[in-house]
Amino acid sequence: MPVEFLGIAATGDGSETTARTTHAFDRDYTLRLARAHEDHGWDRVLFAYGAGAPEPAAAAAFLAAKLDRLQILLAHRPNVSYPTFAAKTFATLDRISDGRLTVHFITGGNDHEQQREGDFLPKDRRYARTREYIGIVKKAWTSREPFDHEGEFYRFNDFVSDVFPVQQPRPNVSFGGSSPAAFAAGGAEADIYALWGEPLVRTAEQIELVKAAAEAAGRTDTPRIQVAFRPIIAPTEELAWEKAHRTVAAIKARRGSGDLVRHRSVSAEGPENAGSQRLVEIAEAGERYDRALWTPTAAATGGAGNSNALVGTPETVAQALLDYYDLGVDILSARGYDHVGDAIDFGRYVIPIVREEVAKRDAAKAAKAAEAAADTAKAAAA
Ligand SMILES: Cc1cc2nc3c(=O)[nH]c(=O)nc-3n(C[C@H](O)[C@H](O)[C@H](O)COP(=O)(O)O)c2cc1C
Repeated sequence: MPVEFLGIAATGDGSETTARTTHAFDRDYTLRLARAHEDHGWDRVLFAYGAGAPEPAAAAAFLAAKLDRLQILLAHRPNVSYPTFAAKTFATLDRISDGRLTVHFITGGNDHEQQREGDFLPKDRRYARTREYIGIVKKAWTSREPFDHEGEFYRFNDFVSDVFPVQQPRPNVSFGGSSPAAFAAGGAEADIYALWGEPLVRTAEQIELVKAAAEAAGRTDTPRIQVAFRPIIAPTEELAWEKAHRTVAAIKARRGSGDLVRHRSVSAEGPENAGSQRLVEIAEAGERYDRALWTPTAAATGGAGNSNALVGTPETVAQALLDYYDLGVDILSARGYDHVGDAIDFGRYVIPIVREEVAKRDAAKAAKAAEAAADTAKAAAA
């Protein structure tokens, strides 16, 4: 199976290591960063969602109209709109982008952040709502006949959309979360299950949970798996590790000065969401795992979202990513700390190695399968 690369569609500069110098939504910067991805071998970029952040669907429409190839992963929180309205927004975006949209449904891992936009449901109930919401969106994308809905969270009559997606039967649904309620909802509804980068054994453990949840929901297929990292690369191992330590020092300095604007708040007791709790626990148990996974970047942010680093030369980081591919991960998400520069470097030096190695693995697998088929045919003829 071919591998896909997901980058970040930031709408302003600034990251955990550097203060923002642009407006929160800067047209030129948004376009420059997306072009850096499109021109350097990336497949898709993520528009994240934060309560106070620029509205990502509008930003995605801007990019879709400007670029021809780059695909879009749009983060969306169900609490901010009605599902029929969202389905039309997504279908319209899929039209604008000519079939380049995937929607990442976010349940929200932090009560306080959810309450900023009026959502007072506790997390497990939010997952139940997300599940119902995704079901409605899928139906609105595909139903040519008016339909009624009476569920736990939504009720409406006689809805039929007049705008259908370019992608048929519908765009893909992506989903994230690491709590039992997340696996149950995502296992049932997701085409893509997104995880944050963890050591290989811990990732394998989560992949099994996704598979079991999909099976429990009566599915015969399983979601594709995406894993996200913060690569820190340099021409030599030594330079990469120096850069990694500089990066953590910069994160700590920004946090210490109270300068770091965070989308998801972490209380004094630590993060509320299972995914971040896992990152904190893994970081407390050790700094280095496997070939190149490094946890101090996660520890320094209190386990914020995608925060574990892969440190080394492009060759080392590519081999580390291939280890995840061998586990069954076919979407690799990566984001640096200097968005534009790191997107270019990763695209130039890491992506080609991974793609080449994946092509070799796939060719070997295909040859093996052809051999086995020929043997079976021979045995049947004998
Ligand atoms: C790849 C990925 C991207 C995410 N993007 C966002 C985001 O942009 N905004 C947000 O509020 N939450 C985001 N999340 C958080 C999750 O969607 C989810 O709300 C949270 O992790 C749920 O907590 P749980 O781990 O306890 O189930 C993301 C999660 C993943 C795995």
